[in-house]
Amino acid sequence: MLEIATKVHDEARQGEAFAPFANDPNKYQRRFYIESYGCQMNFSDSEIVASILNGEGFGATRNFEDADLILLNTCSIREKAEQTVRKRLTEFKKLKQSRPSLLIGVLGCMAERLKSKFLEEEKLVDIVVGPDAYRALPQLITEADGGQKAVNVLLSREETYADISPVRLNSNGITAFVSIMRGCNNMCTFCVVPFTRGRERSRDHQSILKECAELFEAGYKEVTLLGQNVDSYYYSSEGSQPVTFAQLLEMVALISPDLRVRFSTSHPKDITDDVLHTMAKHENICKYIHLPLQSGSTRVLQLMNRSYSREWYKAKVERIRELMPDCGISSDIIAGFCTETEEDHQDTLNLMEFSQYDMSYMFFYSERPGTLAQRRYADDVPEEVKKRRLQEIVEMQNGLSLKSNQNDLGKTFKVLIEGTSKRSELHWMGRSSQNKVIVFAKESYDLKPGDYVHVKVNDCTQATLLGEIVVN
Ligand code: 5AD
Ligand code: SF4
Repeated sequence: MLEIATKVHDEARQGEAFAPFANDPNKYQRRFYIESYGCQMNFSDSEIVASILNGEGFGATRNFEDADLILLNTCSIREKAEQTVRKRLTEFKKLKQSRPSLLIGVLGCMAERLKSKFLEEEKLVDIVVGPDAYRALPQLITEADGGQKAVNVLLSREETYADISPVRLNSNGITAFVSIMRGCNNMCTFCVVPFTRGRERSRDHQSILKECAELFEAGYKEVTLLGQNVDSYYYSSEGSQPVTFAQLLEMVALISPDLRVRFSTSHPKDITDDVLHTMAKHENICKYIHLPLQSGSTRVLQLMNRSYSREWYKAKVERIRELMPDCGISSDIIAGFCTETEEDHQDTLNLMEFSQYDMSYMFFYSERPGTLAQRRYADDVPEEVKKRRLQEIVEMQNGLSLKSNQNDLGKTFKVLIEGTSKRSELHWMGRSSQNKVIVFAKESYDLKPGDYVHVKVNDCTQATLLGEIVVN
């Protein structure tokens, strides 16, 4: 089994799984417990599911043993993610043996591919719901209560859940994710997402603006606009002008100068000068771009159907640095894609160095059933070679991350305080515009999460900046 995902920021908010609070225990007749795996999109979808379930009389619980309904929001992107979910389902099945009225459901990306296995062959679950069918959950729960196997994995060309107000789960009350589009049309050959999440569609900009403004009114100070490929956001409706991603970004930035705006994920082929100019123009649009490279070899990029070459990617990085010299850039890299040679691998290392990434998510190639790569190419790089190459990529990134942090020594950053540091009650943890985690002593200042503060960096590790408050 091949899998490593290396995250370089150690206080980063991403978690493998979470369970929400029990909100207002008297209001609800039944309890649900939800765990999310994979990308931020899944975490964001769980908040939509929570909203739908609240409407049906289900309150959230943090403890699965108290739940009447257990849901796993699953990810298919790599084999390891699927194995983790299977293990968890087996544990929950044991619980069901002692409590037959308990309902267990699988949501998200594994639903379509494994629906019959889960429901019929292995009898692991009662409900299977795909990412575009969450509105059907109430109906499916009723069917499952009646002893039927309940399934809806239909993908949609329209569904964006635009009108559903997500229930913020496990939120720090300061930063929130706002989904702006769903699905992906890119068909990168290694990727299962176009099959599990369907065609790309953009959410009505008015509903996005409303959600962001409401978050700001509720005290949130940062929104991250989410989509598989945010740069191809394009909302058009009859009788009004179409809205591009650059325009949407500006509209959100104008809600308030005190509301920070981030976005994820960009595709290098789609991020436009318009977007870069808009970022440069507004102080509150964070100077940070996640720009997945995947491979530094033009030949491999072609096999991956990424629609850019090594040179084109380099020109994009240069353009970003030209318009925003202080912009943070991070990447996703896959080691050992089909037919990758040592020379291709060296191209990747070399392009990482050129790009001077602040952070990367790094993976072994994991062949996924049904993808174009699985149908067209042999997964022919031996496991030990994939491992060794990934290790070299990780070492390269570790060096780049440390260098990037060392470059910040002596500089002062405006930091949004997110909360107390996980490691010390006496320290705050926040982020710079460049998305770097900064930890600093609270001292005697009267500050709270959600405040902006200027922090001068005086030390660092590879993962974190350490600093002290500067009084203006
Ligand atoms: N194997 C390994 N990594 C993958 N990714 C997507 N599909 C695969 C796969 N089959 C990585 C890509 C993508 C990130 C979200 O996951 O780097 O950008
Ligand atoms: Fe997958 Fe490529 Fe779409 Fe990202 S852009 S979700 S890697 S197909």
